[in-house]
Amino acid sequence: MIFKELANTGVRIPEIGIGTYDYHGGPEPLRRGLESGALFIDTAELYGTEPVVGEAVRGMRDRVFLATKVSPEHFRPEEFRQSVDASLLRMGVDAVDLLQLHYPNPAIPIADTMGALAGLIDAGKVRFGGVSNFSVKQMEDAQRAFGKHPIVSNQIRYNLIDRTIEADLLPYCQARGIAVIAYSPLAKSLSRFLDCDPAGIIARIARETGKTPAQIVINWCLCKDGVFAIPKGGSVEHILENCAASDWRLSPEQITLLDTKIQYRRRSRLDRLVRTRMPHSLQRLAKWTADRLPRSVRRRFF
Ligand SMILES: NC(=O)c1ccc[n+]([C@@H]2O[C@H](COP(=O)([O-])OP(=O)(O)OC[C@H]3O[C@@H](n4cnc5c(N)ncnc54)[C@H](OP(=O)(O)O)[C@@H]3O)[C@@H](O)[C@H]2O)c1
Repeated sequence: MIFKELANTGVRIPEIGIGTYDYHGGPEPLRRGLESGALFIDTAELYGTEPVVGEAVRGMRDRVFLATKVSPEHFRPEEFRQSVDASLLRMGVDAVDLLQLHYPNPAIPIADTMGALAGLIDAGKVRFGGVSNFSVKQMEDAQRAFGKHPIVSNQIRYNLIDRTIEADLLPYCQARGIAVIAYSPLAKSLSRFLDCDPAGIIARIARETGKTPAQIVINWCLCKDGVFAIPKGGSVEHILENCAASDWRLSPEQITLLDTKIQYRRRSRLDRLVRTRMPHSLQRLAKWTADRLPRSVRRRFF
């Protein structure tokens, strides 16, 4: 497993973490992933997976980089602190390594929330503060309010077929050494890549490298400066396969092929807003619907 520096903290963490949204596989597959070297795991109060993550890290807590998130409805300082205490309790840990603001909440002053986060760092309950789904402007506002503490990361959707952040957020983070934690690196389903790859480039590179298609698309993310990836696998097989997407690199020629031959999209602001505001039950329905649409239609909308 390749380790990369988290922002400019001097702390190095695995470039692949284990995602746990919609995860129902019990502690064992997560544990196997951690033991394979992906000593970085991501959860959120929203996911309902903090208890299983707590079980998975038991006995190896000091070696694991543990990340969770506070939901936007808990961004008022008192609720924020209560929410973090509840997360720690659910995971059975004293502190988390990375606490992320799950989505922006324009209804609550960002200074209040960042102040609460700074207080938790000073109290030793949180090691580093990060954000998720924040735009450049929202990151700047949050950093201003965070004072001496750095925002170390932004967890955001990024994969070979959704390259929205390349327009502004990715270069902004790279220039400042802020980590980009790519969520949905498998675009929620490997079949989405096939929709966008009429020439079969991914399969060709998989044959050339002896890697699997999932490993190819995850490694493409990791080749970008300052980018980490947190694929979610529901089984030991998928988790171990995904964790083995590190320790090697696509060649520059292969990266260029993927960059240029795979159809990708950059989402509009409205599209992004709808996505980040969509309730999770509706997101599941949208995925279910997308899986049943013809490829040509699916590619345009999902
Ligand atoms: N901050 C945010 O707003 C946000 C939003 C979304 C996600 N996230 C985080 O990012 C993580 C990953 O994103 P995601 O869960 O949206 O999607 P993802 O990792 O892009 O894709 C997960 C899907 O890919 C399948 N899969 C996994 N490994 C595979 C493999 N080796 N071969 C073929 N299929 C494979 C999984 O199936 P199986 O389950 O059958 O293995 C699952 O259906 C989440 O779990 C969560 O931690 C954060």
